[in-house]
Amino acid sequence: MIDPSVIVFSPVQKLAGETLVIFAKDGGDLTKAAKALDQKSGGAISKAIKIADFKGKAKKSLEILAPAGLEQERIIVAGLGKHEDYTTADWLNLGGALGAKLKGLKGGTAGIVAETGAESGPDGESAANMALGIILRSYDFKKYKTRKNAGNGEDDTACNGPEKIEIFCVSPNEAASHFAVLQSVGEGVILARDLVNEPANALGPAEFIDKIRELEKLGVEVDVLDAQKLREEKMGAILAVGQGSERPTFAAVMRWNGGKNKRSKPLAFIGKGVVFDSGGLSLKPGEGMIDMKGDMAGAACVTGLMLALAKRQAPVNVVGVVGIVENMPSGSAQRPGDVITSKSGQTIEVLNTDAEGRLVLADLITYTQEHLKPKFIVTLATLTGAIIVALGKEHAGLFSTDDQLADRLTKAGLETGEKVWRLPLGDAYDKQLESKVADMKNIGSRDAGSITAAQFLKRFVDDGMAWAHIDIAGTAMAAPSTDVNQSWGSGFGVRLLDRLIARYYES
Ligand code: BES
Ligand code: MN
Ligand code: ZN
Repeated sequence: MIDPSVIVFSPVQKLAGETLVIFAKDGGDLTKAAKALDQKSGGAISKAIKIADFKGKAKKSLEILAPAGLEQERIIVAGLGKHEDYTTADWLNLGGALGAKLKGLKGGTAGIVAETGAESGPDGESAANMALGIILRSYDFKKYKTRKNAGNGEDDTACNGPEKIEIFCVSPNEAASHFAVLQSVGEGVILARDLVNEPANALGPAEFIDKIRELEKLGVEVDVLDAQKLREEKMGAILAVGQGSERPTFAAVMRWNGGKNKRSKPLAFIGKGVVFDSGGLSLKPGEGMIDMKGDMAGAACVTGLMLALAKRQAPVNVVGVVGIVENMPSGSAQRPGDVITSKSGQTIEVLNTDAEGRLVLADLITYTQEHLKPKFIVTLATLTGAIIVALGKEHAGLFSTDDQLADRLTKAGLETGEKVWRLPLGDAYDKQLESKVADMKNIGSRDAGSITAAQFLKRFVDDGMAWAHIDIAGTAMAAPSTDVNQSWGSGFGVRLLDRLIARYYES
């Protein structure tokens, strides 16, 4: 991938770079500095635009090699489309589209003439978002590729783009300081992607915990609860999920105490970290199991978020709580029909061992309320296949007992492009969870599977506690290719939650 440190910001006056990206507006008109280049080349650029019938549509581009009259090796004319109402998410996505082009370059230097009109262009924040788009798009997960050329003619191991990417824009200093912050967020996204992409044989519970411990170097306080501690805490639900696995069960608490007032209540983010979900004795069919190394994406997101907050020294108190466990069938596995006692004291009839994520989260919610006294709780989990049926891969599912928190998450989603869509909660759904033998069962009927899963979690949330739940089963893994992500694990949620925090909760 492209290393963020190769990106620098400069004023538009003296353009340089063996490859130069220039912008064309909707219709194909070049921006001011681009027009000057065109003149210098004796109209070679506008001629190429005409021949190719290039109309400057957003994210389309045209490549001109060895342009006459210019010292550049290559000019990339990139379409801006209708840029007048560009949001930060649009700049990010444009950066993503450029990142795809730039990554294909083998070394050399590149410049991007980030202008939209006459001596105007993206402000610092927008230019920085464009740069983040370049980085996120260029990410790939190739650590297990050993052959340079996998037979398809593509170089599978080394494709790291230019040595230098200079972004020419109207406010380079402002852009650079915004990018310093966004770069930290990008690193959080990349950590989350790496964790999700890692196969379950390589990333078991112990390995995940090792990754979490690495955050200590950055000033994050890490507390690991092993099986013995989980038993002392009476966390019978998460323990029941892990009891069929040969590998240990953990919970981990990550604390970032950057707030001005060190004693102010932290924001809590809780993530499901099932390193592999076979379904347990309610075994998944083979097809349904293929993607289940990614069932720890909630915990990956929380870990990536903590990294981002620490790297950018966020002035806020945040706790990340994750349950790291493997759901496997074996002689010691929990059985359908078992009754278990959660940390809250409530009993659960486990009718389907594949509805395990909610068991993990239930105990973490109780633990967090009791020990960490947060201002609010957001739970993140690849919780239900049903959310993919409902929303596809465009939105994550949002559930909340708090309208303000839900609205803020929705807005942060629009600003970052990590969109969430709110679904209802209600007593009628909750009724589906009634059990004849215990306080509740862990599945509802076939209807509204994502909502009944959220209702289950709600039973563990204290009255008066603001809580939101985000079901990321459709957005965090087996993700569709987008402008800013080509990887199986998308890192969904890191940018969303970072934005939520930065916008509304920092002192
Ligand atoms: N981890 C799965 C949910 C999932 C499915 C995530 C597909 C990503 C892609 C979860 O533990 C699960 O198995 N949920 C069941 C619940 C059911 C048994 C009530 C499901 O969605 O089928
Ligand atoms: Mn499951
Ligand atoms: Zn699961």
